[in-house]
Amino acid sequence: MSLINTKILKVKPEAIIFDKNDVLPTITNEETEKNLNIAANELINTNNAIGFPTETVYGLAGSALNDASVKSIYKAKNRPADNPLIVHISSIDQLKRKLYNQEIPKIYQPLIEKFWPGPLTILLPNNPKESPISSYVTANQDTFAVRMPKHPVARALIAISDIPVAAPSANASTKPSPTLAQHVYYDLNGKIPLILDGGACDVGVESTVIDGLSNPPMLLRPGGISLEQIKEVGGEIWKDIIVVKRTAEKSEPVKTPGMKYRHYSPNAKVVLFINCKNGKNAIEEYIKKNQLQNKNIALLKSKYFEDYPGLINKNLGTSGHEISHNLFKYLREVDEELKVDLIMVEGIDETEEGLAIMNRLNKAAMEVIKN
Ligand code: TXA
Ligand code: MG
Repeated sequence: MSLINTKILKVKPEAIIFDKNDVLPTITNEETEKNLNIAANELINTNNAIGFPTETVYGLAGSALNDASVKSIYKAKNRPADNPLIVHISSIDQLKRKLYNQEIPKIYQPLIEKFWPGPLTILLPNNPKESPISSYVTANQDTFAVRMPKHPVARALIAISDIPVAAPSANASTKPSPTLAQHVYYDLNGKIPLILDGGACDVGVESTVIDGLSNPPMLLRPGGISLEQIKEVGGEIWKDIIVVKRTAEKSEPVKTPGMKYRHYSPNAKVVLFINCKNGKNAIEEYIKKNQLQNKNIALLKSKYFEDYPGLINKNLGTSGHEISHNLFKYLREVDEELKVDLIMVEGIDETEEGLAIMNRLNKAAMEVIKN
């Protein structure tokens, strides 16, 4: 494949003004407007996939209505074709006009009302024979996943082009998700024509994926909206929500196909420490047992771990929001810039943001040390 020159185009999120039900934004900065138009035209006129920021992680966008565009996404990422993509819309108006001209199932109403735009993805019924959505997006399932992102750049791009975009995280398949434009560049330089750079993503982990079409409803992937928030806002029906298990064997049929693949893995081995107090004894023992005295090791700490002498100590933060915001950024920094041999990470409680964080860490980790 011949390499193309990947451009990074700056955009200012704060210069894009969108009210909750607006169809089009007001843009107060010339460069931002120009670059958004360049990106929108790329979606309209070519089959290329492009990088763009959302409030969760950077995404890799292509028209969800066009097979060739969706194929470009899979190709740039090197993503297995049986792992379906999320469709991103800019307004309910667009969802109805372009994708789904029916009543949205009632079970979703309170959640959409509260969490859209935002990091919540829902499944809607999809009839492959009549649907305008590319079958490469849905991997031939009878549902499609959709969300309305809150990030002004994401929403503006989708609104200006008036194209609902399929968008997985913009990392090379198996790598940690990107939360900065430079992460996308690192993984996909030469494979996509452009990246809109809107600064750091706020949430830092992907959207929550829920299935309200099955009974009881299911949490397919924990993410930016917590299980507790869904139960609280969703009402009675959502109190029974089932959390699907996080890993599956290669041969096992799974509800969320992405579950069976290697995920979020830096080049260096990740070791996850659960319930290890201030970390001192567990780290000491691990280093001794594996004869790592001369290795270059990073330690990503959060609530209870203390700095460990001789390691590259990094603080992820103490609140769930800080930890999710920093997690992928620090995993990439110690791996790609500092090129450590091993990454140790402190585990946290699986409540609130902790459920999504531990889901990602359990997938990233090659080894888990539990006390
Ligand atoms: O925050 C996010 O959701 C980011 C940003 C870019 O919006 N996108 C993202 O996409 O994380 P991706 O492709 O990395 O994850 C899509 C997830 C996978 O777990 C996939 O299996 C699930 O959504 N999914 C998509 N369509 C589905 C469907 N019809 N049924 C069940 N799961 C589905
Ligand atoms: Mg992903």
